[in-house]
Formats: sequence, structure tokens, C-alpha cells
Amino acid sequence: MSQRRLFVTTALPYANGNFHIGHIMEYIQADIWVRYQRMQGTEVHFVGADDAHGAPIMIAAEKAGKTPQQFVADIAAGRKPYLDGFHIAFDNWHSTDGPENHALAQQIYRDLKKAGLIATRVVEQFFDPEKNMFLPDRFIKGECPNCHAKDQYGDNCEVCGAVYAPTDLINPYSALSGAKPVLKSSEHFFFRLSDARCVAFLEQWTQDGKLQPEVANKVKEWFSVRTNPDGSTSEGLGDWDISRDAPYFGIEIPDAPGKYFYVWLDAPIGYLASLKNLLDKRGQSYDDYMADPALEQYHFIGKDIVTFHTLFWPAMLKFSGRKTPDNIFVHGFLTVNNGEKMSKSRGTGLDPLKYLSLGMNPEWLRYYLAAKLNARNEDIDFNADDFMARVNSDLVGKYINIASRAAGFIAKRFGGRLGAIAPDGEGLLDLLRVQSEAIASLFENRDYARALRETMLLADRVNEYVDANKPWELARQEGMDARLQDVCTTCIEAFRLLTIYLKPVLPALAASVEAFLHISPLSFADANQSLGAGHVIGDYKHLMQRVDIKQLEALFEAPALTESAQSATESIAPGGEDIAPTIGIDDFAKIDLRIAKIVHCEAVPGSTKLLRLTLDVGEGKTRNVFSGIASAYQPEDLIGQFTVMVANLAPRKMKFGLSEGMVLAASHADEKAQPGIYVLHPWPGAEPGMRVR
Ligand code: MSP
Ligand code: ZN
Repeated sequence: MSQRRLFVTTALPYANGNFHIGHIMEYIQADIWVRYQRMQGTEVHFVGADDAHGAPIMIAAEKAGKTPQQFVADIAAGRKPYLDGFHIAFDNWHSTDGPENHALAQQIYRDLKKAGLIATRVVEQFFDPEKNMFLPDRFIKGECPNCHAKDQYGDNCEVCGAVYAPTDLINPYSALSGAKPVLKSSEHFFFRLSDARCVAFLEQWTQDGKLQPEVANKVKEWFSVRTNPDGSTSEGLGDWDISRDAPYFGIEIPDAPGKYFYVWLDAPIGYLASLKNLLDKRGQSYDDYMADPALEQYHFIGKDIVTFHTLFWPAMLKFSGRKTPDNIFVHGFLTVNNGEKMSKSRGTGLDPLKYLSLGMNPEWLRYYLAAKLNARNEDIDFNADDFMARVNSDLVGKYINIASRAAGFIAKRFGGRLGAIAPDGEGLLDLLRVQSEAIASLFENRDYARALRETMLLADRVNEYVDANKPWELARQEGMDARLQDVCTTCIEAFRLLTIYLKPVLPALAASVEAFLHISPLSFADANQSLGAGHVIGDYKHLMQRVDIKQLEALFEAPALTESAQSATESIAPGGEDIAPTIGIDDFAKIDLRIAKIVHCEAVPGSTKLLRLTLDVGEGKTRNVFSGIASAYQPEDLIGQFTVMVANLAPRKMKFGLSEGMVLAASHADEKAQPGIYVLHPWPGAEPGMRVR
């Protein structure tokens, strides 16, 4: 058989935060598969990248006071410790904002256009008149049309679960500026997935048996019925809106000024861009590489992004005249300690960097996750007790133990020299060797759980052999030297075979074993070889510690409530929200806070929320300010009181008149969970007009 050539990717993480344990699980799953393939002599290009574009990242960057480019570069700079720390061996890590991706996305678009699969249509959407931008659904909030819960997102209600269009919200407002959004129309570009060619291709591509059965079944539903955002249903595949209007952090659409590709259009193209970036760096031709008909292309992804990878992505590739993926490998979600939702503030999540900083062995996690992963799209749970049991009793207790029971005698008594395989050891080794193809095919089919189970059953047989022959007793008996050497040689040979089967999961450990056995890197073919009598091995040093319960306690301990821990982990949300990004004193100085005297206060007819305040800020005239504090104060209680106001806020025209500033008041982020508004009140002695700094 000629050498296989594989192009393998994992999903490209959004560049708006560090990796969490779910990302690490996906990378470990893919990395084990890639390492297995390489051990079979297969050539693999394994790449990842940051998914840099989109409105949420643009907005997060603005909040952090950075350009989007700087913002995603800062996130990218933090990737290495995770990837190196967990032995994830990507050949390349790139960004969807790289030049390769701009060029490829624009070319693919042009090719789709040439194929007649791009259409334009005018779309009416909410627009923020203050921010001057169209609002993504996530940034429109308002009252749920169904249950009337306040402050719900534009696409669905978190209280009653209703799904609707942003235009159905009652009293919608922009989550960015608070302004009332207006409906505005704009031309959008669509990928015509409803075209008969696309439908025919996708029905075939998704149902020809390559996808996991549960994934193929799910996908099948999309060809018949589709639920629209407003809850109604339509038949068949709908066209896909691939454009967004400026301002947008993304890739410009050719010949369409002010229009950008929607982030999900260019995100998967980032797989190709990262590959091209790698091949360019190696001086190899991307076009030649992709033109090889034998090349196989695989994408590892989570269950939440199946539509993009089984419909849009293959269709984009197919109709732009490119190679389509050979398969999409879908995994479920990882939960931590009994499916409890991962929460930073309660410390129930598993912080990958904290894991490493506690000196916990990354291969414990690789082994544990592999022991739970199979080829099905199923959620898995990290359970601390289970983790400790599997690592300590299986990995260390069964496998590592074999080497520690045999190697010492070889070193001390025989100068490291191996003897012959004991006659009663041949059968044992045959049993181990005969399993090599079965275990290999379990890795090939991503059933790591079974591959490890089979391997541990073999380890049990080896330990039975050790127990039956008791090397520690042979060592005390006269004239049993040769027998001791042969029994221990059998154990070392068995240990070497088990190491081959575990190597995709435990690459660093396998490297230590190779060093200790004085052998070159193990591949699956080495299962047919043996070390041979006379081979000299090195001194045995303990290969792996057991998990200490204290490490797990520390890992899941909620961070202490000290100031330094707060700023280091961002894990506490005082008053129900995270502290805003750090600003300099100059930023603060821009806000002019003054002591104000409330000279008059009255209810606002037609509003249950607002009070109208007349404020004296020592300017020789008064100001009119509306404040949403009617639920907490009677107008007459406020008259004559002092408070603090923002005196240089741009005046805002409201339904009831002009508001010339803002009064400061405290409240919890979640008004429903913790109601109450508290107007600020200075200590006696402060006078109207004094600046607060
Ligand atoms: N940027 C998109 C993917 C674009 S691919 C062209 C995205 N990013 S993500 O950061 O939200 O997710 C990246 C991957 O992590 C996805 O495959 C997602 O399913 C996976 N996971 C996110 N949370 C997860 C768990 N809790 N468990 C396992 N995987 C999870 O989606
Ligand atoms: Zn609701």
C-alpha cells in the first residue's frame, strides 16, 4: 500500500479568550489520532488557527481599548503554553486574519459567483443610530414578546425559552449604546444553498455513509424542515447570508465596498490558509499538495458546529472547484464533575493552566480523556474520583508497574543486558503481538476507550505472569540467575509492546521509555520485532507518579477572595459582573463628576421608571436630568439632597425631553435576582459644583 497523506484540523477557536478544557479535549482527541497515523508511517499535516473575525471580537477589542488586530494578537500570544503543556503537536498555528485567508476567501467567493451561486437581496435589520452600525442579534436586547421578561437577547429568551426575531422584541435597545435601534435596509450577499445543484450534492455527500450515523441523521432533518428564527418552519435548505456591513472586523467582499464576509464564511477557509502558510514556510507548493487525488482531508469539531461543516463548508469547496473533506469527526461536549456547568466563579471548571501549574502530569489527562472517548458524538464528564482511580490503578498500577518490577533486576544483576525470552513467556508475547492490528484499527476508528481497555487487559496478563514467576523470589534463589534474567526480559519485552499501543496517548512517556530501553522511536510495525538477547537497556528511573488527592483538591478549590487572586484569575464577579477592563488615569479624567444638589424632583407622566431631577451644579443655572430611579425613591424624599452626577455627558434627547447629564446610582447587574437602586450621597460638607476625583 502506498503511503497515505492526511490533512487534519481541529475547529478554529474564537480569538476572544484563552483555551478552556473543552478546547483542550478536542485537541487531545485529534492529536492522538494524528500521532497514531504517524506511527503507521502516514504523512500528516496537522494545523490549527485562531478564528479572529466577527462582531463580538470587534466589540470586545473596542471595550479593551485595542485594535481588533492587537486584541487577537494578544490572545494568540497566550496559546503556546497550553499546546506545549498538553503535548499537542500542531505543525502550524495561524490566524484567519492572515493574508493567505484574505486571498483564499476572496478567490473562493469569486469562484462561487462564477458558478452562479451568489445572490443579493435587500435585508431589513436593526441598526444602532448612535454606534452607526447594524446590530448582530446578540447585541439587541429588549422585553420578551412571550413572557415579558426584561433584557432578553434578540434571538431567544433565556427565561421562557421562546425563539423569535429581534424585531419581535418589545422596547428593543442596543446592548452597545442603549439607544433604540431603527430598522434599516441594506443589500446582503447570499450563498444559494437552495440551488438544486447544492441540494443534490449535499444530500449525496452527507448520506453516503462517511459521517457518523447520529450526525448523518441529524443533518438529514435539515433537508426536509427548517425552523426559522421566528419559530415558523420552511421546507428544505435555505440560502445562507454571507455578508455583513461595515464596520466589521473581517475580509472585504470583492467589488462590494463596505461589505465584509460573515465570520463563518472565512473561518473554515482558515484551515486551508493555515496549511498554505505552513507549506509556504517549508518552501512547498500548496497547489500541488491539494491537487494530489490521494490526499485525505479530515476536520475534528464539536457537536455545536455541525451545520457549518457538513453543509456550508463542503458546498463552498465543491462549487468553487475544490477538494471536499473526506470526513468530519464530531465529538460531544466535556463537562466537569457530574455535568455541572463550567463556572469560573465557583471554581468547578478545570482550568488547564492551573492543572499544569500544580505540577499535574499532562499525560494523566490525555490518558483519562482517551479512556472515555469513542467515535460517537456523546458528551463526556471529567470526574475527579474517576480520574484518580483510572490513572493510579490502571495507568500506573498496571502498566508502569511492569517496568518497575522487572527493570531493576536487569540493571543490578545483569549489567542491563537482556537474556532470552523465557519459554513460558513466548505465549504471553504472542498474545500481545497478535492484538496489535486490532488495537491499531481501534485508534484508526477513534475508539480510544476500547483501545485502552484492550491494552489494559493485556497489561493484566503480563502482571499475572509476573505474579506467577515472582522475580523477587527468583532473585533470592541459588542457581536461578538465568531464569530471573529471562523472566525479566520477557516482562521488558511485554512492556515495550504495551508502550507501542499507548504511545499515541502518552507521547512523552513513550519517549522516556525509548530512552530507557535504548531504542529508536517506536512505531506500530515494531510490534513484530523484539529487543533480542544481549540488548543493553539503561537504568530504570521511575516513569510516572501517582495522582495525589491534594492536587485534585487544589485544582478544584475555588480561588481565595484576595485582591491579587481576583485580578489574576478574573474569577469573581462582584455585584454580578466582571470588573471592566483596566483604564489609565487619563481615561478616568475624561469623566467630569460633580456634586449636585437636587433642587427639584418630580414624577414623569407616562413613565413608571423615570424621575425628572432639577440639579444645581454651581453653574448659575440648573440642569434637567432624567433618572431611572422611580422604583426606589419618592420625588419629595430627594428634594434638597446632594448627589454625584456626570457633568460632561453629551445631552441626550429622550421621549420626555432633554437629559443634561446622569446621576450616579449603585445596583446589582442582575436586577431581578437582587433588586434595588441606591443613589450616591456625599458626606456632609461637599458643595454643589465640587469635582469628584
Ligand atoms: N470559531 C468557531 C469554530 C470555527 S471552525 C472553522 C468556534 N469556536 S469555539 O471556540 O467556540 O469552539 C471551538 C471548538 O471547541 C468547537 O469544536 C467546539 O465544539 C469546541 N468546544 C467548545 N466547548 C466545548 C466543550 N465543553 N467540550 C468539548 N468541546 C467544546 O466554534
Ligand atoms: Zn420569555
